[in-house]
Amino acid sequence: MFTETDVCVSWGATLDGPELYAATQLLDAGERRRAGALRDAGAHRRFVTAHAMLRVLVGRQIDVDPRLLTFTPLGAYGKPELVYSPHRLHVNLASAAERVVCAVTEHGPVGVDVESHSVIADANRFGELDRILLTSAERRQLTETGDRVSSLTRWWVRKEAVLKASGEGLTVEPTTLQMSAPHEAPRLLAWQGRPVPALWMSDLDVGAGYEAAVVVVT
Ligand SMILES: CC(C)(COP(=O)(O)OP(=O)(O)OC[C@H]1O[C@@H](n2cnc3c(N)ncnc32)[C@H](O)[C@@H]1OP(=O)(O)O)[C@@H](O)C(=O)NCCC(=O)NCCS
Repeated sequence: MFTETDVCVSWGATLDGPELYAATQLLDAGERRRAGALRDAGAHRRFVTAHAMLRVLVGRQIDVDPRLLTFTPLGAYGKPELVYSPHRLHVNLASAAERVVCAVTEHGPVGVDVESHSVIADANRFGELDRILLTSAERRQLTETGDRVSSLTRWWVRKEAVLKASGEGLTVEPTTLQMSAPHEAPRLLAWQGRPVPALWMSDLDVGAGYEAAVVVVT
C-alpha cells in the first residue's frame, strides 16, 4: 500500500540575494533562459527556487549532481518529466507568492500545488472563482464553512494537484472533480465522465497563509 514515505516532498520560501544566485547556478541553459525572460521579480525568484529545489531533491534521491539532470516536457499537455535513464522518477513542482513545493516518487505520476490565501481572496473578490472551481454540492458546503478563503484555497490546491498528477492541468475543468470537504481528509469522490482513478493524496503544511497538496496516481 502506498504511504507518505513513498513520496519525497520538499518545500520552502522563495530565495533571494546570494542564495538565489547560488540556486541559479544549478539550472541548465534552458531553465536559465526561461528565468531570464521573467520580468516580474517574484516570478523569477519562484522559478529559480522551485527548479533548483527540484534538482537538489532528485539529485539526492538518485545520487547524481543536480546540474546534470534533464527535465523535458512530455505528453499532450507538456508535463515536465525527468530524463535520466535508467531511473524512472516522477516529479512535479509548484510555486505561489513566497512558497515553492516539489515532489518526487518512483511509484506513479505525481502532482503538487500550493496557493496563498491572499491570492485566492483577491481572485475571488466577485465570487467568480466559486463557479470556476466548485461543483454545486461543493458550493453548498462552502456556504456552511467558517473560513471561506482557506476552504476555497484548499479545494483549489487539492483539485489542481489531481489535475497536475494526471498531466492534464487546467485543460480539464475543476468543476468536473467532486472532492471531499476541505475540513475532511482529501479524497476525490467522483470525476464527471470517467471512473475515479486510484490516488493517494495528502495536504501539506507549508506555513500560515498557504494551502498545499500532493497527489500520486497509484
Ligand atoms: C500545469 C498548470 C496547471 C500549472 O499552473 P500554475 O498554477 O500556473 O503553476 P504551478 O506553480 O502550479 O505549476 C507550474 C509547474 O507545473 C509543471 N507543469 C507544467 N505543465 C504541466 C502539466 N501539464 N501537468 C503537470 N504539471 C505541469 C511545470 O513544472 C511548471 O513549472 P514551470 O512552468 O516553472 O516549468 C498549467 O500550466 C496547465 O494547466 N498546463 C497544462 C495545459 C497547458 O497549458 N499546456 C501548454 C503546453 S502544451
